Amino acid sequence: MKNDALLITNGVLLDPQRQKPERLEVLIVDGLIRAVGTGLKATAPQAAVLDAKGGYVAPGLIDIHVHLREPGQEHKETIASGSAAAVAGGFTTICCMPNTTPAIDTDAQIEFVLTQAARTALCRVLPFGAITKGREGKELAELQLMHDAGAVGFSDDGCGVASAAVMLKALQYVKMFDGLISQHCEEPTLSGGAMHASLTAMRLGLGGIPAVAEELMIARDLQLNARIKARYHVQHISTAGACELIRRAKQQGQNVTAEVAPHHLLLTDTCCDNYDTHFKMNPPLRSQQDVQACIEGLVDGTIDCLATDHAPHAREEKELEFDRAPFGILGLETALPLYIEALVKPGHLSWLELIRKMTAQPAGIAGLKDRGTFAIGSLGDIVIIQGDEKWTIDPEKSFSRSRNTPFGGREVTGRVAHTITGGKIVFPRPTAGAEFAKPSNEGIV
Ligand code: DOR
Ligand code: ZN
Repeated sequence: MKNDALLITNGVLLDPQRQKPERLEVLIVDGLIRAVGTGLKATAPQAAVLDAKGGYVAPGLIDIHVHLREPGQEHKETIASGSAAAVAGGFTTICCMPNTTPAIDTDAQIEFVLTQAARTALCRVLPFGAITKGREGKELAELQLMHDAGAVGFSDDGCGVASAAVMLKALQYVKMFDGLISQHCEEPTLSGGAMHASLTAMRLGLGGIPAVAEELMIARDLQLNARIKARYHVQHISTAGACELIRRAKQQGQNVTAEVAPHHLLLTDTCCDNYDTHFKMNPPLRSQQDVQACIEGLVDGTIDCLATDHAPHAREEKELEFDRAPFGILGLETALPLYIEALVKPGHLSWLELIRKMTAQPAGIAGLKDRGTFAIGSLGDIVIIQGDEKWTIDPEKSFSRSRNTPFGGREVTGRVAHTITGGKIVFPRPTAGAEFAKPSNEGIV
């Protein structure tokens, strides 16, 4: 059964391009936004109706930083399982990092991800290619070929590009086709630890990753890019100094954007106190002042968008000693309520501002003009959110193949009621006989 027309009624529209929330209907026809207004049933009597009563209606969320582990580590996550987690969290577009096994560093690898996504994913999956071959930091990968094959940007995420010479070349190279460089900022000669370099680290006897390791690489890259002015994006920003560097660079007109992840707004390094590896990620949890600075950076626009850094890892790996366990936690299913808790509840951002930073802003960074908006003709990707609904995070109910979240048992507010990709309801999964049943498990894009 094909969903030719879907009309969403009774919701409060959070449209990034409007000044305030408005009670408006949305009509999707053949997968694209056809109309926004009132009384739309009269113009499309054949449309199926989805009642969004009591809910917010926003563009589908966009996450420009996730890890899907396919190819090579499918026991942690696949494109299918990661996309199922994404739509459960309200995301309709996710950009996956190339630190797979092997790394995604050729056009054939980009095509593989896109083909797998078309076959198995419930949302749109756009791959990043590696900046350097094998993510080894030595030789540039075939950036133009990957771009032509559909890479949305380039990153060696998991580590930064250590060589200034290689980074300079990468910025110059992508400038030729207006490509995007996303950098994991960490100066390796200052790093190598397991958590934030702090008193807590000393007390626990763990090696530290100092704030300056992040700041030094950002400062260097900003210098390198000052004249080139390529599109340069800082991934998972975590320190006050990093925010200040980006704030000043923006004031000087530099071409730079930045993202933050939920855990860097809600948790601090002291969470590592009992050696619980669910609090181990890179960049590490920092100090309360750093948390505060990231929030201020979001409020004043220094930090452009909200990401997740969804990083699934197997249970047995996370059960290792703190310094041996891998970095990273799940993010896709919990990001929205955690951002509500960190930003909307305390009054730092309005609902509309929150949605902008999870839709229009990441779309802009990734150069995706057809989404993150309700403009007529854009993709029919939508999330309906029950903003006041309380629920408790239960890792065992996750759609991910992994369970590594430090937020299990946390009571949160704000629940995804429906996720719609290309006019089809992809969450909750349709049951047999449901009005919008999607009979096969064919992919969306
Ligand atoms: O926490 C992290 N996990 N940080 C990274 O840079 C890599 C990621 C992963 O791939 O697990
Ligand atoms: Zn990452």
